[in-house]
Amino acid sequence: MNADDLIFTVQPGGCLQGEARVPGDKSISHRSIMLGALAEGTTTVSGFLEGEDSLATLRAFQAMGVDIEGPRDGKVVIHGVGMHGLHAPAADLDLGNSGTSMRLLAGLLAGQAFDTCLTGDASLSKRPMARVTKPLAEMGARVETAADGTPPLRVHGGQPLHGIDYVMPVASAQVKSCLLLAGMYADGQTCVTEPAPTRDHTERMLAGFGYPVERDGARVCIQGGGALTATQIDVPADISSAAFFLVGASIATGSDLTLRHVGINPTRIGVLNILRDMGADIELSNERTVGGEPVADMRVRAAALRGIRIPEDQVPLAIDEFPALFVAAACAEGETVLTGARELRVKESDRIQVMADGLVALGADARPTEDGMILRGGTLHGGEVHAHGDHRIAMAFAMAALRADGPVVIHDCANVNTSFPGFVDLAGRLGLAIAAGD
Ligand code: S3P
Repeated sequence: MNADDLIFTVQPGGCLQGEARVPGDKSISHRSIMLGALAEGTTTVSGFLEGEDSLATLRAFQAMGVDIEGPRDGKVVIHGVGMHGLHAPAADLDLGNSGTSMRLLAGLLAGQAFDTCLTGDASLSKRPMARVTKPLAEMGARVETAADGTPPLRVHGGQPLHGIDYVMPVASAQVKSCLLLAGMYADGQTCVTEPAPTRDHTERMLAGFGYPVERDGARVCIQGGGALTATQIDVPADISSAAFFLVGASIATGSDLTLRHVGINPTRIGVLNILRDMGADIELSNERTVGGEPVADMRVRAAALRGIRIPEDQVPLAIDEFPALFVAAACAEGETVLTGARELRVKESDRIQVMADGLVALGADARPTEDGMILRGGTLHGGEVHAHGDHRIAMAFAMAALRADGPVVIHDCANVNTSFPGFVDLAGRLGLAIAAGD
């Protein structure tokens, strides 16, 4: 066990009740800093996620000379420097656990006049980067990786970029966004076609900053040489963080929970669609649009879940929610089958193997497959599991305790702070007692 192992000990049983607003959307928070930094004028952000991942992006831009105030109570003020106003950082940019920071910055920095080196923690240092460096090389960029295509990334500035027409082999919003950001600095037009819809926050936010993007079905195009104009951003609560409580309240008898101001962008609502298919009782109200993103309040009550075959077209729309969904499936009646989700093996951890191992340790019938999992719902017992430093694994297993007959002890939970600061306190207030210690 590593020396700084943070252990969650979660008391079994109980239910979730009350109302809450979970922290801001991670994807939108990252992009608000990146686009705000490159804009002309002052961008103000409210609801910013004060988690380690989005803070890594914020610090990277501060290190490149951008004056950023906050975050204070979710408020950030970014004094944009314009498309060509960034300065070479004095040192490597350490992006911690954040794959989004690294992949999006690779594209953005490929268009700068200076060199940068992007590094990360042990988990990020194992993640595949060729998916961005290959198409960037086609655009004329020079970005070096370690021999096996992993970080650090050495981005050589001053290379003239040209637009490409790229058909992505994997459905990845990070790859799409990386290329669109590089495309702003390229000669001509850069087009990206995705094999399945992925989150479209970059496209929406570019438009919100006044940078035209053309969308035609699965294809999105951007013309190089444009400019961004500062704006105001209201970051919705992150549906990926809400997901833990949607699952927790669904599986725990007596639960009745309302989550406020949650983003319901159609490219993010796979978790809602899948849970509802399983029989979950989730009601949306107060639907509205804030700054180009749809949001709603969600009321979730306990329900008898049943196993389903998860439609493959929902996979990219729920890509971050499978740790929580596996817990739901382990508590549902009958069999749940997930296929077409190989990407889960290269997230912050191998989420197929790590979730299957932990669920089996809690007495579940979970069989990992190459690209998914087969689960048979049943009863869970208490036990000891490992989050492998993966925030979403830690929070998913915390929810499993609601249906366990003894405490669930979860190792290696410190990275919960990357996406959900205050998780332990909020869970406690809503009815799930977690003791965090070492
Ligand atoms: C993200 C895209 C997804 C997701 C990640 C955030 C983004 O990754 O898993 O947490 O902000 O663009 P992929 O696009 O690689 O699937």
